[in-house]
Amino acid sequence: MKKNILLISVILIVVSSCNKPKTIDKIIDESLAFSMKQYSLMYDVMKEKPDLLPRTLDTTGALVTAKSNWWTSGFFPGSLWYLYEYSKDVKFREAAEAMTSRIEKEKDNTGTHDLGFMLYCSFGNGLRLTSNESYRDVLLTGAQSLITRYHPNIGCIQSWNSRRGWQCPVIIDNMMNLEFLMWAFKVSGDSTYYRICVNHSDTTMKNHYRPDFSSWHVVSYDTLTGNVEKKQTAQGYADESAWSRGQVWGLYGYVVMFRETGLQRYLDHAVKVAEFLINHPNMPEDKIPYWDFNAPDIPDAKRDASAGAIMASALIELSGMVEEPASSKYLGIAETQLRSLASPAYRAKTGENGNFILKHSVGSLPGNSEVDVPLTYADYYFIEALLRYKALLD
Ligand code: GLY
Repeated sequence: MKKNILLISVILIVVSSCNKPKTIDKIIDESLAFSMKQYSLMYDVMKEKPDLLPRTLDTTGALVTAKSNWWTSGFFPGSLWYLYEYSKDVKFREAAEAMTSRIEKEKDNTGTHDLGFMLYCSFGNGLRLTSNESYRDVLLTGAQSLITRYHPNIGCIQSWNSRRGWQCPVIIDNMMNLEFLMWAFKVSGDSTYYRICVNHSDTTMKNHYRPDFSSWHVVSYDTLTGNVEKKQTAQGYADESAWSRGQVWGLYGYVVMFRETGLQRYLDHAVKVAEFLINHPNMPEDKIPYWDFNAPDIPDAKRDASAGAIMASALIELSGMVEEPASSKYLGIAETQLRSLASPAYRAKTGENGNFILKHSVGSLPGNSEVDVPLTYADYYFIEALLRYKALLD
């Protein structure tokens, strides 16, 4: 009898511990260990492809690579730097150095607004972790290249050169390149960088945002008068819709601008954007946004894991900038996002998914490009968010 009671108790303990949700620290450690395995495999593939960087998978599941001038080139090296930071394993440092060096020539590229993504995720993380002075020189040259795209009479850095007849298109995504320029301000002491970042942020706050704190994707300006010419979309469902990745780029950008300037208006703005996203009736329960908050086929619309990862990373930082109860609320949403992304619904299995970490992102649905695929920036911001959350636990 006694033996039976003991046996039943053991079974009950085992069963109940199996049903217990995993703690977030366990999920983070597992996800980072998995990321190391996947990206080691990815590096083995990429080291045999000189000058190229991973980008996504095509519809047959084959790897699509990119040259260094593609806007996402910095994310794979940046993820390798994060994994080196986490593991202290010299193998990741060597891999990160090798992949970072493939992007160096972009420091002279004045034809793109994405140098922050390209150079700051790669060389910027490399400099932070190694103090390699040559990285600093590359970054400062790149920052000079980027500000050639600034229009003083508009108060913004131009995005694309020519598209759809727009004179000076500025996309909300541009907010993400300001962290790089704020770094250049701090290192060089040149206040031009600071002024450009503040002007760009203020102009964007004024012209890109609607009264509900959702954002247009593209605002195009008249280059002569500096006035708004058109407000439209390129990657969203409609001109008036809330394209998800654009919303989270904006959120992340204003969090960074508050961190870097201490200007209260940027924090207030970031909070309003966060509230728009969190309270949106079309935000799914697992907190991984549909690719557009106004996609007509919700709840069957594709999800965008990249938007979930970027938002999680931004919310973790934002949670440290606000008082309770907002702080716990933002961290709680980010935790739900990390749990979702780390679940089999979004996270791949070892050796699958072309060695990318996350599944189910959307690059440009209207362009029928990169729909429901892995993307290097989803992986990068997922790893970043894991490390940011882990730092709060340590
Ligand atoms: N900047 C391009 C994108 O977010 O797709």
